[in-house]
Amino acid sequence: MTAPASGWPLEPAALTWNDDETPRSEAFGDVYFSRAGGFGESEHVFLVGNELPTRFAAGDGTRILETGFGTGRNFLATALLFLELAPADASLDFVSLEKHPVARDDLPRLAHAQRRLASDWLAGHPRFTAGAEARFHDLQSALHAQWPDPVPGFHRRFLAGGRIRLTVIWGDATDQLPRIDGRFDAFYLDGFAPDRNPELWQEALIAELARRAAPGATAATFSAARRVREALAAAGFVTEKRPGFGRKRDMLCARRDPAAFGAPRKKSGPGVGPVAVLGAGMAGTTVARALARRGRDVVVFEAGDEPAGGGSGNPAGLVAPVISRDWNPLSQLTATGMGFMRAELDGLVDGETAAFNGVIKLARGERHAAKQAGIAAALQPDPGFAQWCEADSLAALSGVADVDAPGWWFPTAGWLRPRWVIARWLAEPGIETRLDRPVTGIVDQAGGWRLRTSDGATHGPFGEVVVAAGPASGGLIASLSRWIEPCRGQVSWGRVDADRAGGPTRGRPLMREGYSLDLPSGERLFGASFLPGDRALEEREAEHAENRQRLASIAPSLAGGVSTSALQGRASLRATTPDRLPIVGRLADGLWVSTGHGARGLTWSAWLAEYLASCIEDTPSPLPRDLAEGLKPARFDERAARKAARSNRGRSG
Ligand SMILES: Cc1cc2nc3c(=O)[nH]c(=O)nc-3n(C[C@H](O)[C@H](O)[C@H](O)COP(=O)(O)OP(=O)(O)OC[C@H]3O[C@@H](n4cnc5c(N)ncnc54)[C@H](O)[C@@H]3O)c2cc1C
Ligand SMILES: C[S@@+](CC[C@H](N)C(=O)[O-])C[C@H]1O[C@@H](n2cnc3c(N)ncnc32)[C@H](O)[C@@H]1O
Repeated sequence: MTAPASGWPLEPAALTWNDDETPRSEAFGDVYFSRAGGFGESEHVFLVGNELPTRFAAGDGTRILETGFGTGRNFLATALLFLELAPADASLDFVSLEKHPVARDDLPRLAHAQRRLASDWLAGHPRFTAGAEARFHDLQSALHAQWPDPVPGFHRRFLAGGRIRLTVIWGDATDQLPRIDGRFDAFYLDGFAPDRNPELWQEALIAELARRAAPGATAATFSAARRVREALAAAGFVTEKRPGFGRKRDMLCARRDPAAFGAPRKKSGPGVGPVAVLGAGMAGTTVARALARRGRDVVVFEAGDEPAGGGSGNPAGLVAPVISRDWNPLSQLTATGMGFMRAELDGLVDGETAAFNGVIKLARGERHAAKQAGIAAALQPDPGFAQWCEADSLAALSGVADVDAPGWWFPTAGWLRPRWVIARWLAEPGIETRLDRPVTGIVDQAGGWRLRTSDGATHGPFGEVVVAAGPASGGLIASLSRWIEPCRGQVSWGRVDADRAGGPTRGRPLMREGYSLDLPSGERLFGASFLPGDRALEEREAEHAENRQRLASIAPSLAGGVSTSALQGRASLRATTPDRLPIVGRLADGLWVSTGHGARGLTWSAWLAEYLASCIEDTPSPLPRDLAEGLKPARFDERAARKAARSNRGRSG
């Protein structure tokens, strides 16, 4: 497979507003929705056009793929109708592609305009019960509060307590659609008018949609243009013209496979049997939570006498992106994982458990600065996500006057206290945590998986087992042991003398070779050492000294502000892999793994947990297909086999 385009620069929507407060795209010369159309048009064209009122009531039609997310009007109408009609155990997957995301700054005006339209739509509407308008407001507020960063790629968000999974994909549909992994029951074709926006109606693109059609899939669009009908027909859809909305004469409905319509499919909803998760670190906890949210009963087995006793047990850690010119998997995982984690933390972003007030990452030296400035010029990231800044701006942003290097400013990055987060998440309904239970064996027996623990007990059967035991995962899964290397890291912390300007900038972490994070408790956390192969866990003075040097290299005043005598520290192990990417995916039927999170597990493990949950529950993936392929557990063995085959050919040739 060829590498996907990086998706940068990502151009936001340039909205202008008509006199009646409806948004318009100057670039395409078209409106997002009309005052006359509003939500009634969404309902008529896309929901009724795909027969979703009837299908929702039967718990069907719940996987939807849209071209053109725009303002999210169709999504909100769909979510509201789904909540009104679908059975309580059904969940909705709405995946939508958008080349020009609406900017966060435009959301308040948009919210106001859409609320007026929703009010008109819902007044006396026979499909909705009392309180629908309030539910609409809740959905819209939840969507806007979690609006994804302007970063190309896949962004999943949950609404309505997790029953609704929205995946918006920022980027050109031509590049991003082939990356989608999933089957869909209904397609919404909602580009701007085909003569103004031809790329979104191309035959090849509609064929890509059709490749993702579930049995009985339908499609609907406001346009009845001949080229659209022909493209749908070429992709195997049988089309039908129906009366359009309001003054529009026609619209199109289409059915991919009439013979299969109504064919039974695996329904969304709780899967079979309880799930066992091995390890109560950030990886295991986020997997447990992702599955419990989907209605599974989860039992977490933890070797230690408390959760988060391994790599996830430091006082705090950073959640920040890594920028690369080719937007490599590390960048994709950190940038999107960061936004996902922030949304997941939700109420825990309280300034004590977690805070997302921005993170600064200084260049390591002049050459590094020149390279990073070049990347900034090439990607042109939206300043709402990443901005390349001179030293004086960074000094002002951080409140640290002696910052003397240029660097990145990530305004939506932050930090979290993993122990606190893990404790809160493990206490959620559907999750039982069993401490002091080192798992010593995983056995596949008739009727499900069974676990043996060090006390000789056998547990199970389980429908699914997820190994998330950090660096110990290789001891449980023999095929992984070669590829996981423990890597010791020690963090240091001490009380801060009053060296740093107070006010809102205090507490904004800074990174260079290491990092400096001022916690609300008045301590400065800094580190960390990185010692591959070293498994020892004692606190070392030499590593405190190294961490101090790392701190001084960010700014001498930061090191000067912490007294040397009363430093505390903690050493733990990262699980690293040969390509520095995590190992996440299927090992065998019902056996899964999430490990190898290296130095970034606090940033990306929640997103990867949701990916595993989607695989386990067979729902559309929140991860691009190529990215998931690059994380699969078998990749190292496959690469080694390919290398061996090449060298054998070389010898015999
Ligand atoms: C010094 C340091 C600083 C870091 N800073 C950051 C940062 O700033 N940002 C960031 O994103 N990431 C950071 N990381 C990385 C991050 O902390 C890890 O990637 C993440 O915590 C890994 O989580 P995990 O759940 O995979 O592993 P762990 O947290 O190690 O959890 C594994 C759990 O499995 C349990 N277990 C082991 N064997 C068994 C068994 N047989 N049965 C049952 N349970 C078992 C262990 O007791 C442990 O609780 C840092 C890591 C270190 C070491
Ligand atoms: C009519 S608007 C969509 C309205 C939207 N469904 C709503 O509910 O608000 C069309 C959208 O298609 C997007 N678009 C146009 N070309 C695109 C492309 N090649 N890839 C992805 N999105 C595209 C536009 O930016 C615009 O937001």
